Amino acid sequence: MTKRKPEDLRSQRWFVPENAPGFSHRSRMKQIGYRREDFTGKPVIGIINTWSEINPCHYHLRERAEFVKRGVWQAGGFPVEIPAMPITEVYMRPSPMLYRNLLAMETEELLRCMPIDGAVLMGGCDKTTPALLMGAISMNIPAIYLPAGPMLRGNWNGKVLGSGTDARKLYTERCAGNITEEEWIGVENGIARSPGFCMTMGTASTMTSLAEALGMTLPGAASIPAADSNHQRMCLGCGNRIVDMVWEDLKPQDILTRDAFENAITVDMAIAGSTNAIIHLVALAGRCGIPLDLELFDDISHRVPVLANIRPSGAYLMEDFFYAGGLRALMAQIADLLHLDCRTVNGHTIGENIAGAAIINKDVIRPRDNALADTGGTVILRGSLAPDGAVIKISAATPRLLQHTGTAVVFKNYNDLEARINDPSLPVTEDSVLVLQSAGPLGGPGMPEWGMLPIPKKLLDQGVRDLVRISDARMSGTAYGTCVLHVSPESHVGGPLALVKDGDKISLDAAGRKLDLLVSESELAARRTQWKKPVSSFARGYGALYLERVTQANRGCDFDFLGEHLATPEPEIH
Ligand code: FES
Repeated sequence: MTKRKPEDLRSQRWFVPENAPGFSHRSRMKQIGYRREDFTGKPVIGIINTWSEINPCHYHLRERAEFVKRGVWQAGGFPVEIPAMPITEVYMRPSPMLYRNLLAMETEELLRCMPIDGAVLMGGCDKTTPALLMGAISMNIPAIYLPAGPMLRGNWNGKVLGSGTDARKLYTERCAGNITEEEWIGVENGIARSPGFCMTMGTASTMTSLAEALGMTLPGAASIPAADSNHQRMCLGCGNRIVDMVWEDLKPQDILTRDAFENAITVDMAIAGSTNAIIHLVALAGRCGIPLDLELFDDISHRVPVLANIRPSGAYLMEDFFYAGGLRALMAQIADLLHLDCRTVNGHTIGENIAGAAIINKDVIRPRDNALADTGGTVILRGSLAPDGAVIKISAATPRLLQHTGTAVVFKNYNDLEARINDPSLPVTEDSVLVLQSAGPLGGPGMPEWGMLPIPKKLLDQGVRDLVRISDARMSGTAYGTCVLHVSPESHVGGPLALVKDGDKISLDAAGRKLDLLVSESELAARRTQWKKPVSSFARGYGALYLERVTQANRGCDFDFLGEHLATPEPEIH
């Protein structure tokens, strides 16, 4: 491999010229206290940090950036920490998904407009992983992903609690009157007790695992708990490695091939990953110019067993997964299903990185001969209700409901749902199919995680804990139930979901991959003439740009002008 020379570094266009801009760039670095030799002739590493006091999942990243810097200095680079939008799943409304593309744009432009040769991307809370990677792919300078790490197991009265999953289960019991106020406060105190992202196999753990499967993290990085000192050493390792990646000119688009995406989908099925991963992988691949059809997810799901026994599909948490051997051990179990020659950020192939990785606990990571399920956790549905596809996580659903025909109970939007779901006169039974409209990419807007519609109180009182639920929304990766999600096209743009009325029959056949609205074509045509497009929510600002340019779920919800494979000019330096 030919190594680049100092004069090849893009940062040197800023720092070396003996002209007025060069003088200005050097003098301002000296203003911060650096010497000329600190930043000339060396790779300048941008540490894109999504730390914030409003993002509890990333609360430790301010301090961990210091370990990255130490690693960069050790390897002969020059680190600069750059804050970026701290998308937080907990607090951002109407939906953090609305802002994924904004962070992707911010990442790309931060890397482009400044003297950066390589990037360490620090994130983890759901949307930050795809957003940072999308931006880095489009900029396509050497980049390494640094996962924030999952938080420690939750603990309440000696019971292990998992983020989201157990909160939802216990809240359902609280609504059913089975948990006292005092117990509820105990749950609140014990469910999130260290920095780090949600420690179930939610979207955060799924996406960091997929970043590792794609080859964009150091091996084993995805599941190191945030509170474990292995995490600090991994941060240091990212700092070391990115400097070499710059000299080697190893860029995201060299790593992210079609085979790498197939590896990621395979791993997604084996970990029973979040349904959100489908949208994000389609968007990430789109940035590389690689189209991923939803059918590819379904094909791969047919041949991949579920091996990660992690909530919500299984019993354990990410801390257990790390102690059990982590993603390397899981991938070693399915090595025959992976493209082992894919390159990764550490300069080795996936095959080399997982060679010899053993399972330490065979209940947490199941061997192939004792899989949790023989086929993948997520399947794609199509039919008259979802011509462009829909998604269901069968591993977290109730098996008897996976083949079901029931009568629709329709909610026009989330406010309608909140207003009527617990109305004693709601005509709902345990065989009903709950339908939520106006919750998609445009309708939400931002496709909020409303897809796990609540069970009506009157059914909770009868002991019912699951129903077939259908929407154009997403669902948290920590959620569960027989929830059909991402129905495309969404109702806001006039997809068939917009035409469903109370009393219609809907048929779900997960095994047959079918989702049908059992209403005649002539009746649907009549309803279509009556349908009026709902008013859009944003008239100005980023929201207006989002509404104008976002694509549907089956295309990854990227902006139509960002998925295109067009070159953007390097900035001129005057
Ligand atoms: Fe950040 Fe769940 S809230 S990962």
